[in-house]
Amino acid sequence: MRILLTGGTGYIGSHTAVELLKLGYDVELMDNLFNSKITVLDDIEKITGVRPAFHKIDLLDKVGMDELFKNGRYDLVIHFAGLKAVGESVKKPLKYYENNVGGTINLLESMKKYGVKKIIFSSSATVYGEQGVAGLTEEMQTGVGITNPYGETKHIIEEILKDVAEAEPEFEATILRYFNPVGAHESGLLGEDPNDIPNNLMPIIMKVAIGEISELSVYGNDYDTVDGTGMRDYIHVVDLAMGHVAAIDHMKPGVSVYNLGTGRATSVLEMVAAFEKESGKKLPYKIAERRPGDLAIIYANPAKALNELGWETKLTIEDAMRDTINYLDKKFKTRA
Ligand code: NAD
Ligand code: UFG
Repeated sequence: MRILLTGGTGYIGSHTAVELLKLGYDVELMDNLFNSKITVLDDIEKITGVRPAFHKIDLLDKVGMDELFKNGRYDLVIHFAGLKAVGESVKKPLKYYENNVGGTINLLESMKKYGVKKIIFSSSATVYGEQGVAGLTEEMQTGVGITNPYGETKHIIEEILKDVAEAEPEFEATILRYFNPVGAHESGLLGEDPNDIPNNLMPIIMKVAIGEISELSVYGNDYDTVDGTGMRDYIHVVDLAMGHVAAIDHMKPGVSVYNLGTGRATSVLEMVAAFEKESGKKLPYKIAERRPGDLAIIYANPAKALNELGWETKLTIEDAMRDTINYLDKKFKTRA
C-alpha cells in the first residue's frame, strides 16, 4: 500500500512514518516545512534504515498538489498537515481557515482528480467544545462551544469529510480525534521541537527544563480535581502513531470516527511530579490565574477504538517523560 503523509515531517507525522516504515509500508511524506525541519528525514532513516521520498509542497499550491498526485499513485492519504497554535489562531483566524480548511479542500480535490479514495484525518478532542463531560464518546455532540478558530477548522473539516462521503459512496474517511499527545521516540531522535510554542503544557515544561523559560505557570489550582489543577488525557505519541496503523487496517466506505486517548486524566501537578521524578531535578513553577476557556477535566472514552480497531495505549506518563528527557538530552545536549 502506498501512503502519502501530509505534514509528514511534523511531530505526529514523523512518529507515524517510523511505525509504518518499520511495518514495510510504502510511505512518502509531503510538508511545506513551516513547522518542521528537513533533518527529520535523516532521523527517520537512522531509526528505520529507510529514507522515505519527501515532497516540499504547500497544501495551498494547487498546481503542486495536482502534480504530486499525478505522479504519486497513492492508495491512502494520512492528513496531518495543518497549523495548530490555538492562541495564534485567535489573532490570525483567516490564516488558520485558509491553511487548514482551504488546504484540505485542495487536498481532497487532488485526491478526487487522481482517484485516491481513502483518507485518515488528524482531528482533535477540541471538536467536543466546552461540554464539560469527562469520558467523551464519539457520538457526543460536536461543534458547539468551540472557543477558538483552530478548533473550528477541525470541526469544519470533519463536516466536509462527511459531505464528501455522502456524495461519493466509495470514499473512505477515518477521523481520529487526538487527546493530548506527549512524549518522543525512544531513540531520542524524534520529538516535539519546542522552538515553536503552541502554549501547550508539555512544550512549556520542556522549555523550562532547558532553561529557556524560567518557570511554568500552572493555570489555576482551584478546579474540582485531585489537586485543584486541570486534568487532561495525555497520550504517548508512539501510541498515537500506532492508532493510525490500526486505523489503516479497518478502513471502510463512509466516515468512521475514533477517539485516540488513554481514558485516564493526569493533573498539571502530577505531570510536574512525573517530570521531576524522571529527570531527578526540580521543575520551577508558580500557581497562576485560570486560563480563559479551560475546562477542569477532559479525557477520552477510548472503548470504540479498542472494540473496532483492536487498539489501546500501552505507554505511560512515565514513559513519555523518560522519552522526552532523552530527546532533550540528545537534541539540546542539555541534561534536563
Ligand atoms: P506539527 O506542526 O508538528 O506538524 C504539522 C506539519 O504540517 C508541520 O510539519 C507543518 O510544517 C505542516 N504544514 C502546516 N501547514 C502546511 C501546509 N499548508 N502545507 C504543507 N505542510 C503544512 O503538528 P503535530 O503536532 O504533528 O500535529 C499534526 C496534526 O495533528 C495537526 O493537524 C494538528 O492540528 C493535529 N493535532 C495535534 C495535536 C497536538 O497536540 N500535537 C492535538 C490534536 C490534533
Ligand atoms: N497548562 C498550564 N500551564 C501552561 C500550559 C497549560 O497549567 O503553561 C495546563 C492547562 O491549563 C490545562 C493543561 O495544562 O489544564 C493542558 O493544557 P494544554 O494547553 O497542553 O492542552 P489543552 O487540553 O488545553 O488543549 C490542547 C489543544 C487543544 C486540543 C486539546 C486536545 O490546545 O486544541 O489539546 O487535543 F483540543
